[in-house]
Amino acid sequence: MSTTARVALVTGGNKGIGHHIVGQLAQHGVHVYLAARDAARGRAASGMLTERGLDVRFVQIDVTDAPSVLAAAEQVGRESGRLDILVNNAAITSGLDPASKVTVEDLRRTFETNVFGAVTVTNAFLPLLRMSSSPRIVNVSSGMGSIALMADPDIELTKLNQAAYQASKAALNALTVLYANEFCAYGIKVNAVCPGYRATELNGGLPTPGAGDPADGAKVAVTMAMIDDNGPTAQFLGDTGAIYPW
Ligand SMILES: NC(=O)c1ccc[n+]([C@@H]2O[C@H](COP(=O)([O-])OP(=O)(O)OC[C@H]3O[C@@H](n4cnc5c(N)ncnc54)[C@H](OP(=O)(O)O)[C@@H]3O)[C@@H](O)[C@H]2O)c1
Repeated sequence: MSTTARVALVTGGNKGIGHHIVGQLAQHGVHVYLAARDAARGRAASGMLTERGLDVRFVQIDVTDAPSVLAAAEQVGRESGRLDILVNNAAITSGLDPASKVTVEDLRRTFETNVFGAVTVTNAFLPLLRMSSSPRIVNVSSGMGSIALMADPDIELTKLNQAAYQASKAALNALTVLYANEFCAYGIKVNAVCPGYRATELNGGLPTPGAGDPADGAKVAVTMAMIDDNGPTAQFLGDTGAIYPW
């Protein structure tokens, strides 16, 4: 990989919205590490993009497995010397129960990937992000994680009440702001995005009534990944361009 172009890494890049984020960043001329937990799925997904002439390289990361994250950071450091853009996209849903029925196991499983995984990856790649002249972190969140929206009785989201997923995204949102505040001194801009309701396996696969194209959902993450030095930090941007309340 060339080290003159910007270097990005996207977790959960083998399918869904993450795969489109990888492809769209590469179309912007970014060298993109497509991180996936399964090597076969990751290599196949990266092959689909390299066949189109895009500069994409597979790297193995299970966000719940710290040694795999550290090994990937070592690989990116050795090959590229820095990281300009980190997109924490990997996430799961585990049970769709309201708070009164959610199990601690489902909460724990969901937090392991959606929250602790994002922290593990962010902290492991921090030394490489600090080598960048314009580092960016984009956390792929959800409007379902906005406490302000959850607390609004007029909003449909409150009726879905998927406790484990929503609490995990609320925690990711809090960490987005905490990282943004802490990293201000280093010039690292940290933002969250909501890709909107999209037809992906997270939602049970295709076709999902009312769900949009995941390629369109990827655009908001790419927008935040490509912001210049005047761009925002500690902002929560939705797929329609609206700024979400935390
Ligand atoms: N789809 C929506 O309507 C929607 C709405 C709002 C927000 N989002 C957010 O958008 C992001 C992408 O979701 P999606 O809809 O594209 O879901 P998806 O199609 O299910 O893709 C999820 C990705 O995360 C990966 N992943 C899961 N656990 C992992 C782990 N432990 N380590 C590494 N990778 C892991 C999956 O890998 P495997 O293939 O190996 O499972 C897959 O690549 C998520 O953060 C989600 O919360 C989605």
